[in-house]
Amino acid sequence: MQELRIAIVGHRFMGRAHSNAWNQVCRFFDPCVKPVMQVACGRDEKDLAAFARRWGWAEIETDWQRLLKRDDIDAIDIATPTFLHAEMAIAAAEAGKHIFCEKPFANTLAEGEAMLAAAEKAGVVHYLNHNYRRCPAVLLAKKMIDEGELGEIYHWRGAYQQSWLLNPQHPLDWKLKKATAAAGPLWDLGSHAIDLAHFLVGEFAEIDCRAKRFITERPLAEDPSRTGQVEVECAALMTGEFKNGALATIETTRYATGRRNRHTFEIYGSKGAITWDMEDMNRLQFFSGADPEDRRGFRDILVTERSHEYVGAWWPPGHIIGYEHAFVHAAIDFLNACAKGGSVEPNFHDGVKSLKVLEAAAKSMESGRRIGL
Ligand SMILES: NC(=O)c1ccc[n+]([C@@H]2O[C@H](COP(=O)([O-])OP(=O)(O)OC[C@H]3O[C@@H](n4cnc5c(N)ncnc54)[C@H](O)[C@@H]3O)[C@@H](O)[C@H]2O)c1
Repeated sequence: MQELRIAIVGHRFMGRAHSNAWNQVCRFFDPCVKPVMQVACGRDEKDLAAFARRWGWAEIETDWQRLLKRDDIDAIDIATPTFLHAEMAIAAAEAGKHIFCEKPFANTLAEGEAMLAAAEKAGVVHYLNHNYRRCPAVLLAKKMIDEGELGEIYHWRGAYQQSWLLNPQHPLDWKLKKATAAAGPLWDLGSHAIDLAHFLVGEFAEIDCRAKRFITERPLAEDPSRTGQVEVECAALMTGEFKNGALATIETTRYATGRRNRHTFEIYGSKGAITWDMEDMNRLQFFSGADPEDRRGFRDILVTERSHEYVGAWWPPGHIIGYEHAFVHAAIDFLNACAKGGSVEPNFHDGVKSLKVLEAAAKSMESGRRIGL
């Protein structure tokens, strides 16, 4: 295979981030197969045409089901609201297309399991875009943990804090309705935090979660003179225990005043500790218990050396990278997996794992009980 012909569905926030990745990947990396930006799909023809022109998609299509019938498409890039992922991914798998899918994986565990089964049956490559796994500093944290630099892990403290719902006039969009988003920040932001916890620490054994709604009514997106009920939580606080005995806290909110996209983790082990903050994503803080007692303290590692994962392809050391680069890193790995017939992580197996935790958290929110996994 010399080329991988891609169709993207969705042309707003993630549509732009993914299009940028498909555009950039061959400029900085040498994938085994070249992405061809064949078709952009969305519902609004005028916006879609402007999007396709700007980002370099050759054609447009307004019906995703018709799109999947085309035999000149090898892969589908799903960048639509969560409730559409299952229907689109299952149809894409049945049509034999490789799948690059946005998170959260799906609205329910049952949907996620059906997506995984369809992709496995079809033998297509499936990728779930938890992009933070591909930040070089996160990959360095993974390497240090795997090499034992933290020793036995005792604590995972994850937080994903945003503030865009502080404005009471923010409309009741798809992210605030149960049918389209499944839940609030627990699904949207918590899925990222849970994926990183799985990647860096391990699987959960038990979950406990409480949630809160602060503003319960908002203007309707289609008619701002009327209001409707917010159907999902505004913030969720989850605690849990991993199978390896470490304790976890995961805090997700859209009401953290002053926090725009603060995605952080802190990991404390018997020999050392690591902390990371998405808003300063090139840096990793590392504390080593092996340092002489009178010199101990968190050191600040700037993860921009050629020896760090993916970094050598970008700029000289010290020249930082940003949010969009992790999408390019996902693009290269996805393209190589499609070319070689391999797999790429995180994938639909990881999506199912995360949905098990999310559904347990939702059950705990409703019942006030701890839920075993
Ligand atoms: N990985 C990340 O960092 C990240 C960040 C934001 C959003 N997301 C995820 O990406 C997905 C999309 O989010 P977004 O913020 O880009 O949403 P958005 O609302 O900005 O865009 C959604 C797009 O889907 C299109 N769409 C909706 N229904 C459609 C249909 N029936 N057929 C074709 N197109 C349709 C819309 O026209 C729009 O172009 C969600 O699953 C979201 O959780 C991921």
